[in-house]
Amino acid sequence: MAYVKAGVGVSHVPAIGVAMDTGITEQPYWQPVFAGFEKSRQWMKDNKPDVIFLVYNDHCTAFSAEVIPTFALGCAAEFQPADEGWGPRTVPIVKGHQKLASHIAQSVILDEFDLTIMNKMDVDHGLTVPLSVMFGEVEDEWPCPVVPLAVNVVQYPPPTGNRCYNLGKAIRRAIDSYDEDINVMIFGTGGMSHQLQAQRAGLINPEFDKRFLDLLTEDPVAGSQISHLEYMRDAGSEGIELVMWHVMRGALNEKVEEVHRHYHVPASNTAVGHVILENR
Ligand code: DHB
Ligand code: FE
Repeated sequence: MAYVKAGVGVSHVPAIGVAMDTGITEQPYWQPVFAGFEKSRQWMKDNKPDVIFLVYNDHCTAFSAEVIPTFALGCAAEFQPADEGWGPRTVPIVKGHQKLASHIAQSVILDEFDLTIMNKMDVDHGLTVPLSVMFGEVEDEWPCPVVPLAVNVVQYPPPTGNRCYNLGKAIRRAIDSYDEDINVMIFGTGGMSHQLQAQRAGLINPEFDKRFLDLLTEDPVAGSQISHLEYMRDAGSEGIELVMWHVMRGALNEKVEEVHRHYHVPASNTAVGHVILENR
């Protein structure tokens, strides 16, 4: 049967992708950001996933304001990189895993989480930057297929942390019941604290971020109860991206071992946060 051995939480700051694509990762500004991922890249080699289930958010790239699904599952054979702002990154096309994705759709929807099924979906920095930081430079293809789950954190109301945590549990039940012996790694992406607009633009709150990471590892139920108001007040308007990490956490065992943590300020307008959690 398929199994979940580990989860990864990681920021998706678009400028990180640009730094990699333009070869400036050794510059003093970026060096400490990437130094924290050296261990992660080795760990990815040692724990090579067969498939990544990647929870991320779209930034008005695949979805305009006309249609905003709360949870959209990528069931296509492949996903074209696309992006706002800097334009599409020159990274390989992202291959999906249709058999696993349709099994997850079947299992999770019948488990009463009403996912939107996406048979075509372009993917932006929210998905490609986490892959890049974890795998490093890749040539013609990504090392494994990806099943994307896009979560709405752009238009209020986004889902609650509690809903995301419980969805993670349903995804775990789906993976556990998939009849093929594969290692499915789950990524929760976005965050950490940041605000890109208005009077508080530039807000970064390391105390909040540390508490969030501690709760995520040690007391995920309490972490999942952080309210929208707390994210908005303490982590800034875009800090709400952190609800996606609860999907990842919900798919892991209650007890996990945090085998790596990296936290660095600043990267563009946000803090970079990263944890690797192994099931115990
Ligand atoms: C930045 C961060 C994001 O999460 C994003 O989606 C876009 C920009 C930033 O820090 O600049
Ligand atoms: Fe973002």
